[in-house]
Amino acid sequence: MTMTGKQPAWLPDISQRPGPRYRAIAAALQDDIGSGSLPIGAKLPTHRDLAWRLGVTVGTVTRAYAEAERSGLIGGEVGRGTFVRDPRPAEAPTGDDSGVIDLSVNALTQRPNEERLRQALMQLADRGDLSGLMHYPPVNGSARHRQAGAAWIEQTTGMVADPALILPTAGGQNAMHLALAAITRPGDSLLVERLSYPAVKPLAGLLDLRLVPVAMDGEGLVPDALDQAARTHGAHALYCMPRLHNPTTVTQSAPRRQALLEVCRRAGILVVEDDVYGFLAPRTDPAPLAALDPERVLFLTSLSKNLMPGLRTGFLLCPPPLMDRVRSLLRATLLGVNPLGAELAAEFILSGAALDCAGQRRALVAERQAQARRLLRGGASDPACPHLWLPLPEPWRREDFARALLGRGVRVTPADAFAVARGDTPHAVRVCIGGVERTDLLEQGLRIVAGLLAEPAAMGESFV
Ligand SMILES: Cc1ncc(COP(=O)(O)O)c(C=O)c1O
Repeated sequence: MTMTGKQPAWLPDISQRPGPRYRAIAAALQDDIGSGSLPIGAKLPTHRDLAWRLGVTVGTVTRAYAEAERSGLIGGEVGRGTFVRDPRPAEAPTGDDSGVIDLSVNALTQRPNEERLRQALMQLADRGDLSGLMHYPPVNGSARHRQAGAAWIEQTTGMVADPALILPTAGGQNAMHLALAAITRPGDSLLVERLSYPAVKPLAGLLDLRLVPVAMDGEGLVPDALDQAARTHGAHALYCMPRLHNPTTVTQSAPRRQALLEVCRRAGILVVEDDVYGFLAPRTDPAPLAALDPERVLFLTSLSKNLMPGLRTGFLLCPPPLMDRVRSLLRATLLGVNPLGAELAAEFILSGAALDCAGQRRALVAERQAQARRLLRGGASDPACPHLWLPLPEPWRREDFARALLGRGVRVTPADAFAVARGDTPHAVRVCIGGVERTDLLEQGLRIVAGLLAEPAAMGESFV
């Protein structure tokens, strides 16, 4: 964008953008609005002016503006011009229209992706042959979809995976189900981090597994505790999140990973490694467990957090001996993953759009983490994480704190939701900072959190 005179005149560089010019202009608009360089209320150049300065026809600009208007990004006002719209009416960050600022859901803002989806759908519709998307897919997906899975895994972890060992799945949750079902039998014990992704609990119920909590420290799972728990419960399966753990944000160090795998080898433990937030981590992170011991580790990832949960697309990388079992489970439960979603995901990945989006996500999360650190004065959360883990000062109790916050219009999640066993649950809450569309609302929410933290804890209603 360049500025001329006193008035900022929006002039995007569309020379490097692929596809028809009108789409390139619409995409540039979306990016500049998403990054804030075109703020809410900014006036856009007239169709004629922009067309002249970009060297395109007026019709091209009209079409680009119409597309951005359909996405709700801009709006025309008769006699005044075209302006960047305030997304407020579409705000309700998590579908909650009660006015609550919802910091309890670990999703990332969706607004920048609407245009991406629209363009991908149009490109798909323009394709000559759609027959590959109309039939039952091969159980382990088409070669292109497996290839896309391998590319995504390599882009986000550096690990080179054989596409033949990858299954497209209906999101991360489905990948967890398949992986856990493949390595356990009903009645087995499943080792999990003491605080874990809450949806592992209903899955354990479904598969009739007993969850065994394993202690964590500042580097994640504690190897000795894993060893002890495996022995005590005769457990041979572990589910864990080595990077950007949900909810504590911890990433296991490289030596910690080696020590944990050593325990797993000795005790014959198979591991399900969940990396759905991994695309947000720096590429200098330690190698995934699956790269260190590919025969022992099932690795899962998903596009829900980066692109959109509505795609329902993830990938599961399996050790070769488990491939047949996982394939049978997928056949028995889904017949095969929806090829339409998998195709869109493949297009996003193979065109580079998914990686592009990941870069924007990382920038957004870094900005919001800095905002949170400033408002909450520090905190130990990983700056690459889309959530904060907030240990509460004495004498706050986690449920009282979450309840008091809700009373002030902010929803967060107390540690209980993540605890896999009763007792010994820390007094902490998870605060998700990636999902609220408007940074001013996030600011307001975080100020309320900071305000409550600074107050003495409220006395319960009745204390006699
Ligand atoms: C750690 C973890 N794994 C898996 C999932 C599920 O991912 P998906 O939406 O792709 O099913 C989530 C969603 O919040 C998650 O936090």
